[in-house]
Amino acid sequence: MTTLTKTEGEKAPTGPDSFLSVRDLRVRFSTEDGIVKAVDGLSFDVERGKTLGIVGESGSGKSVTNLTVLGLHNPKTSTVEGEILLEGQDLVTTPEKEMEKLRGNKVAMIFQDPLTALSPYYTVGRQIAEPYMKHTGASKKEARDRAIEMLTKVGIPQPKTRVDDYPHQFSGGMRQRAMIAMALVCDPDLLIADEPTTALDVTVQAQILDLLKDLQQEFGSAIIFITHDLGVISDMADDLLVMYSGRAVERGSVREVLRAPRHPYTWGLLSSMPRLGGSTSQPLMPIPGSPPSLLNPPSGCPFHPRCTFKDQVSGDRCSTERPALGEGRASACHLTAEQKQTIFIDTIQPRLR
Ligand SMILES: Nc1ncnc2c1ncn2[C@@H]1O[C@H](COP(=O)(O)OP(=O)(O)OP(=O)(O)O)[C@@H](O)[C@H]1O
Ligand SMILES: [Mg+2]
Repeated sequence: MTTLTKTEGEKAPTGPDSFLSVRDLRVRFSTEDGIVKAVDGLSFDVERGKTLGIVGESGSGKSVTNLTVLGLHNPKTSTVEGEILLEGQDLVTTPEKEMEKLRGNKVAMIFQDPLTALSPYYTVGRQIAEPYMKHTGASKKEARDRAIEMLTKVGIPQPKTRVDDYPHQFSGGMRQRAMIAMALVCDPDLLIADEPTTALDVTVQAQILDLLKDLQQEFGSAIIFITHDLGVISDMADDLLVMYSGRAVERGSVREVLRAPRHPYTWGLLSSMPRLGGSTSQPLMPIPGSPPSLLNPPSGCPFHPRCTFKDQVSGDRCSTERPALGEGRASACHLTAEQKQTIFIDTIQPRLR
């Protein structure tokens, strides 16, 4: 990135390394059918300058978690409990007015759906330039130049002309890139990227991923990266969080989790996702059963109704006792460490080759 808008390391992190620290987060929605427990006791950390990857089936709470970090949940229909500490400041209790100042500047999000972020009524250029003017005090001309620069960076052809287009004049992939330009325009300290490159072709995807790496190198930004693509995860993320039913079931460095996963759900997930460089001889195996109801989550371990290894745990612990996720490299499962290792090596690993 060529335009420096803030000095690296302006503010010292509060913890040793943790830039964002989420503790026991619970997000509930009141619906006609009852209370949806979309996030149910989730804790994780993101270090400054590092990328946390989040994986999990559809409906596991990835987007809700991250929208809540940005304060974008609707307070009328949802309740949020727990702590979201950004450099020690609790975003759960931060007033909306102050959140508005943080959003787009210090924290930014690339949304799963570009139409959530882009307004049909303003030109793409204006939508990129406005947060820049607001947060940096740049002039109209400077902000327009910055918008053109950002459009160039995300690979929009003829950026000097396209800057005056409206979102509907852009193709789907171009809208996605325009939204990425909008998220990156103020060089955020924390960037949340929710499936940022799903709609893009491989070349553009590589270009966007490089752009995110540049942002991180230059500004030491922390990134939360949500994707279903394991190749992208292993390329981008330092740490990995596996989510199921609004909770974290496994956590560790990307290397550790992808090489030696310990939770039956992670085993299922990895067997059901295409692997970069993996052989094509092993068929993808979908996880049997369907994701649990969030209105009436199963007792004990939320994964136990679908788990093929629960018989190896003595008694009915899996259906009665919620397994805890320890600190650091951890998995929330009642199997012993030895069982996890043996099952992985004997049964799971051969499937992943
Ligand atoms: N406003 C809402 N009201 C009620 N339920 C909601 C609301 N928003 C999300 N949910 C529910 O919360 C759960 C988690 O949704 P979320 O969007 O976080 O899933 P996700 O992990 O991002 O899935 P995907 O991979 O499909 O994007 C889902 O069951 C969803 O239906
Ligand atoms: Mg989502």
